[in-house]
Amino acid sequence: MKIFVLLLLFYLNYVNSEVDNCNFGTCGECISYPYDTCVWCSEDKIIDRRCRSLKSLNGSQTWCKENSMYNPEHFINVTQDYGFEKKINGMNVQFRPQYIKMKARPGVPLPFNMSYLPAVDFPLDVYYLMDISFTMKSKVKDLKDQAKKLHRYLSNYTNNVRIGVGSFIEKAAFPFYDHNRNRNESSHAFQNLVSLTNNTQLFEKVVADVTFGSNYDDPEAGLDALMQAMTCNEEIGWRSDARKIIVLCTDSTYHSAGDGKMVGALKPNDMKCHLDNNKYTMELQLDYPSVSQINKVAKERNFRIIFAATNNVLKEYTALSSQILGSRFALLKEKFHVISIIKQAYDEATTTVQIDYKVPPFIQIDVDQDCISRPTRNCGSSKTEPQVTIPATLTVKSCPPNKVYKHTVYVATVGLGERVTIELDIDCECPCEKVNSGLSPKCHNSGEYQCGICKCRPGSYGDDCQCTGSSTDQKDLDKCKLDKNDVKLCSGRGACRCGKCGNCTSGFSGDFCEFDDNSCPKPNQLLCFNKGKCYRGQCNCISQWTGSDCSCPLEKKHCMAPYSKEICSGNGACHCGKCICNQISGKNETYSGVFCDFCEDCAEKRCKQLEEHAYCYHEHMDNKTLCVHENDGNINVFLVNKTEINYAKWYMAKWCKKEISNGTYLVFKYHYEDHQLNLVIQKELQTPPEANLWIAAGSAIGVVLLIGILTVIIWKILADLHDKREYEKFRAAAEADGFDVSPNILYEPPTANFNNPTFDPTYR
Ligand SMILES: *[C@@H]1O[C@H](CO)[C@@H](O)[C@H](O)[C@H]1NC(C)=O
Ligand SMILES: *[C@@H]1O[C@H](CO)[C@@H](O)[C@H](O)[C@H]1NC(C)=O
Ligand SMILES: *[C@@H]1O[C@H](CO)[C@@H](O)[C@H](O)[C@H]1NC(C)=O
Ligand SMILES: *[C@@H]1O[C@H](CO)[C@@H](O)[C@H](O)[C@H]1NC(C)=O
Ligand SMILES: *[C@@H]1O[C@H](CO)[C@@H](O)[C@H](O)[C@H]1NC(C)=O
Ligand SMILES: *[C@@H]1O[C@H](CO)[C@@H](O)[C@H](O)[C@H]1NC(C)=O
Ligand SMILES: *[C@@H]1O[C@H](CO)[C@@H](O)[C@H](O)[C@H]1NC(C)=O
Ligand SMILES: *[C@@H]1O[C@H](CO)[C@@H](O)[C@H](O)[C@H]1NC(C)=O
Ligand SMILES: *[C@@H]1O[C@H](CO)[C@@H](O)[C@H](O)[C@H]1NC(C)=O
Ligand SMILES: *[C@@H]1O[C@H](CO)[C@@H](O)[C@H](O)[C@H]1NC(C)=O
Ligand SMILES: *[C@@H]1O[C@H](CO)[C@@H](O)[C@H](O)[C@H]1NC(C)=O
Repeated sequence: MKIFVLLLLFYLNYVNSEVDNCNFGTCGECISYPYDTCVWCSEDKIIDRRCRSLKSLNGSQTWCKENSMYNPEHFINVTQDYGFEKKINGMNVQFRPQYIKMKARPGVPLPFNMSYLPAVDFPLDVYYLMDISFTMKSKVKDLKDQAKKLHRYLSNYTNNVRIGVGSFIEKAAFPFYDHNRNRNESSHAFQNLVSLTNNTQLFEKVVADVTFGSNYDDPEAGLDALMQAMTCNEEIGWRSDARKIIVLCTDSTYHSAGDGKMVGALKPNDMKCHLDNNKYTMELQLDYPSVSQINKVAKERNFRIIFAATNNVLKEYTALSSQILGSRFALLKEKFHVISIIKQAYDEATTTVQIDYKVPPFIQIDVDQDCISRPTRNCGSSKTEPQVTIPATLTVKSCPPNKVYKHTVYVATVGLGERVTIELDIDCECPCEKVNSGLSPKCHNSGEYQCGICKCRPGSYGDDCQCTGSSTDQKDLDKCKLDKNDVKLCSGRGACRCGKCGNCTSGFSGDFCEFDDNSCPKPNQLLCFNKGKCYRGQCNCISQWTGSDCSCPLEKKHCMAPYSKEICSGNGACHCGKCICNQISGKNETYSGVFCDFCEDCAEKRCKQLEEHAYCYHEHMDNKTLCVHENDGNINVFLVNKTEINYAKWYMAKWCKKEISNGTYLVFKYHYEDHQLNLVIQKELQTPPEANLWIAAGSAIGVVLLIGILTVIIWKILADLHDKREYEKFRAAAEADGFDVSPNILYEPPTANFNNPTFDPTYR
């Protein structure tokens, strides 16, 4: 029980998951899908897709309005169907119908019936083609014996039978045949012995008189004879309205096209009658016919051919009969009954009908030729059930190429000359597709609005023909992926349109919206130094700025100190708005400072450059604007008093002074804070100090005196030290010699007596 439930569940699941394969983009494709009945909806607005399986719609549906839905009908209309009693050209109709009109949808089978009823007393022409080479002697004798019975027998089927005889051996030329050796036995490729006749006596007499011939090689000229027998209408006496049967009797294989070269018969067979006095006149000029030539003529003229051959050539003739429409092989037995073979041929020709048709590859016709669908009864007509119904199905497998939708197909009977004509109209286009509405604004004026969709002109594509170029959907989507394996289109930050990422979410850029516009270099925390825009992962700098982060000014003025006309004060090179300072000539050190203007003797030069300006500011202390010039650059001017200029904050600044008039100086300082020049100007002018000669002279003399005294003192100390060392040496030596050396007799401590002339002891 459990298993049953499981199976049921599985089944339900299976049914639900059934796929609707009708997923097509155009109405034509939709209706011509051969494996399902697909319908198209051409409503303006539609949810879901436009092509769906009829099955999935389930009768009542809200998907599409009835009048917008296209589901073409297919039908079969038999337009001409004469009854079997009708006589055409004096003959009863044996095969019907005659004309069918069909409207077909690819994949939809169109069944139709054909019927066959053999007419009573239908004219029958039987031509007996004998191989009269020597080896066939016994078989021909059989025919002679049975000639009388034959006609009578056939008359039992129809009172309108005629019979004829022809013979063949071989083209009468060396190497197939030798006149000298076969003097008594002639040879020929074909000879008509008795034209078709109802005169039994004549038939019997001629057959009785047949003489034999011979040839060298084994194969015979059977195909030559066959071609002549089929093409010589008047000589043989074929009736146009009769069933035509040829029985070819032989015990050897046959020559075919190409073999004629051996006897010099080089011209290809012309499929024409060449009989004179009942003999084939062109046998030494024309080559043997090819098998396909035989087939062509047999098919065109509705011949049925029976190859009655002995067992030794069974293989060759079964193969041959399979190549020729309406022909068959019959085994010539030891005891030969020509009557039974002809009877068999007649039975086949009358009671059954063989169908032949040729259709283009996109059309398929299945004819139940053997009436397999009714196994209890073969398709032959019988006394009890003379009428045979032949069921057939025509299926259009796919749409025809080149949009040719009207075709005519013939289904013909073999050996009967009657056929049914099928006029076929294949539905591979919807009517709405055939309307030429012109370019529509709904389709960006690049396509026609048809069946609810845009049909884009070459060079544009997309649902609304909004894209230019040629593409398919899937490729479009792939083009919107930075990497094939990406799951998201346009990095998940934009819309994919026509194979391109359109508007990226703001803050993102790039062909695939892959760049974050906030992820460019940020010198000093400034995105692109605030001197450019971050786009596609790169800084796009405004003019006069460069570098990957836009931090490099192009202008040289950034390398020029205010009031200087030289780049990097002439002591360096400007790079990226910064000075790279040179080495100071003759020294192992470089200039320093933002503008390379720091060095031992640089200040002097710099002071010279600045003094004019400092003076101006000093002059116009109340209205500094008078001194400001456009190109002054980054400069700060401080006017301070004498005390302030010595403040610690100007400690690093360089001193400058400018002589204004004799002895009067303007004092100022300068220094940089980064690129900014600070000009510190002392308000008070510096006047030269009153020179105090005395102090100067005094101090000069004092210094000389001091140096003198110090020199004397130092000399004295050094001398004393020298003496002391000499004395020590002496004492040590004396002691060593046993002298008492203390007190020193030579050394007396020096005494100084200094009298101060200004000192008056009385004042004490
Ligand atoms: C079709 O209709 C039947 C009955 O109306 C319903 O049970 C079934 O689910 C429908 N199927 C679909 C695919 O709509
Ligand atoms: C079949 O053909 C007849 C005659 O041409 C016509 O009257 C009839 O409408 C046709 N039927 C269909 C289904 O087309
Ligand atoms: C063909 O004939 C058979 C038997 O007579 C009949 O059942 C069938 O409906 C016929 N088919 C057509 C398409 O007429
Ligand atoms: C002709 O046919 C009838 C009936 O089928 C048969 O009895 C008779 O023997 C036949 N005659 C010959 C000559 O075969
Ligand atoms: C040809 O026929 C003649 C007389 O009829 C006979 O004498 C001769 O032997 C025959 N030749 C051959 C090769 O059969
Ligand atoms: C033979 O055919 C001719 C016409 O071709 C006809 O007049 C004659 O009656 C036929 N004879 C027989 C025995 O059927
Ligand atoms: C981008 O968006 C604007 C406004 O939403 C729209 O007009 C434009 O067509 C879009 N561009 C693309 C390439 O999708
Ligand atoms: C220059 O000075 C640096 C260190 O200040 C020293 O390493 C280098 O050897 C000196 N070069 C010369 C040529 O004196
Ligand atoms: C400073 O001088 C300029 C130029 O001479 C003048 O336009 C301006 O009014 C003066 N300002 C003062 C405050 O005197
Ligand atoms: C200098 O200026 C400072 C503050 O502005 C002030 O305190 C000081 O007295 C001034 N000195 C002189 C000599 O004017
Ligand atoms: C200034 O110098 C001139 C000569 O250049 C001289 O005549 C004059 O006396 C000097 N004045 C003072 C105040 O030193």
